[in-house]
Amino acid sequence: MRPAHIILSVLAAASGLLFIHACNTRTQAREPDKSPEAALLAVDSTAIPNDKYGEAVRYGQELMYRTAYYIGPNGVNGRYLGNKMNCTNCHQNGGTKPYSFNLMLSHEQYPQYRAREGKVLTMAERVNNCVMRPHNGKPLPLDSKEMVAFLAYFRWINSFVPKDKPHRGGKNLEIVLPDTAANPLRGEALYAQHCAQCHGKNGEGLLLADQQGYAYPPLWGPYGYQPGSSMHRIIKQAQWLKANMPYDKASWNKPFLTDAEALDIAAFVNDDKIHPRPDPENFDYPHIEEKALDYDRGPFIDTFSADMHKYGPYPPIVEYWKTKGLKYSY
Ligand code: HEC
Ligand code: HEC
Repeated sequence: MRPAHIILSVLAAASGLLFIHACNTRTQAREPDKSPEAALLAVDSTAIPNDKYGEAVRYGQELMYRTAYYIGPNGVNGRYLGNKMNCTNCHQNGGTKPYSFNLMLSHEQYPQYRAREGKVLTMAERVNNCVMRPHNGKPLPLDSKEMVAFLAYFRWINSFVPKDKPHRGGKNLEIVLPDTAANPLRGEALYAQHCAQCHGKNGEGLLLADQQGYAYPPLWGPYGYQPGSSMHRIIKQAQWLKANMPYDKASWNKPFLTDAEALDIAAFVNDDKIHPRPDPENFDYPHIEEKALDYDRGPFIDTFSADMHKYGPYPPIVEYWKTKGLKYSY
């Protein structure tokens, strides 16, 4: 996938979708603009500086695309991940693809209070969350060459975020929350039709010939992401699927799945009754009034069931939280 991605970014750069490459000193988070004139986020991968900082950035970029090769279960530079997924499998184009859990704004938004952990996290600690949950691994030492490289890379991609004009692609596409629950059975049929040819009938994915990563990453099973991952939340996954899957058919400006289909498929993929995943004990959301609405483990601050939190219908939960004056998120 990698060379194609880089060519795409370069093409995007060449076609004028992005320009401004500037040093970044802002402290305030900037909201992406929804107007059609807003610049779509993108980077110019050929512009990494040829100095020591650039070396770190380049290694960070490598780590995004070939995470398993460097720090996977048989990693050449350390063994941290519990599976062979690469960061770019979810943060596509190394975290620079618009609406694909884009990471271009992250550098300027940390340290940040995180409800899942109930404390302020640094960017490095946030990177380790993904190392531990979707990658089912153990945390990188905060001063390791690898962590420094990730952070250098995130600073560098952040420098392409337009400073003085609106931009978009940094957040996820929105999903309209329906009045009915997401339905794993409908999702199963849609999965067979639109996803199984790449990700496999049993969600097992397909390893590359050199076994150093996946041509098609797994969606569940022992090598998939943990239930504590945001990808395990149905609304969150549906937002991502809408812009990005099926890989060969969807794009953010021309989604392939309807919102309801994306929710049904995410419900099927994340149905823990039929799909096992690695599941170490964890203690998420120490403050129950800060739980994401689609997080499926109790106790809850409201009276809705775990199943309803997981599959919906979500609007009554939103209403309840609003009436109680609680701040909700999903
Ligand atoms: C299975 C999918 C998956 C994989 C693999 C993955 N992530 Fe993530 N990551 C996510 C999701 C989902 C979020 C939350 C996005 C959101 O809330 O919109 C996230 C969030 C993040 C954030 C926080 C972004 C912000 O601005 O708050 C960072 C940083 C990050 N990931 C880095 C990484 C790195 C580095 C790797 C590889 C070591 C990685 N991720 C692998 C799914 C994944
Ligand atoms: C043509 C092949 C193809 C099809 C069809 C396809 N995918 Fe993917 N999928 C990919 C590839 C390739 C990636 C990794 C993307 C990358 O590295 O840039 C991916 C990544 C993912 C990921 C994030 C990584 C992970 O394993 O958790 C999820 C979730 C996902 N796909 C779900 C789906 C769903 C659901 C469908 C059906 C609606 C689907 N995909 C259809 C090829 C495909």
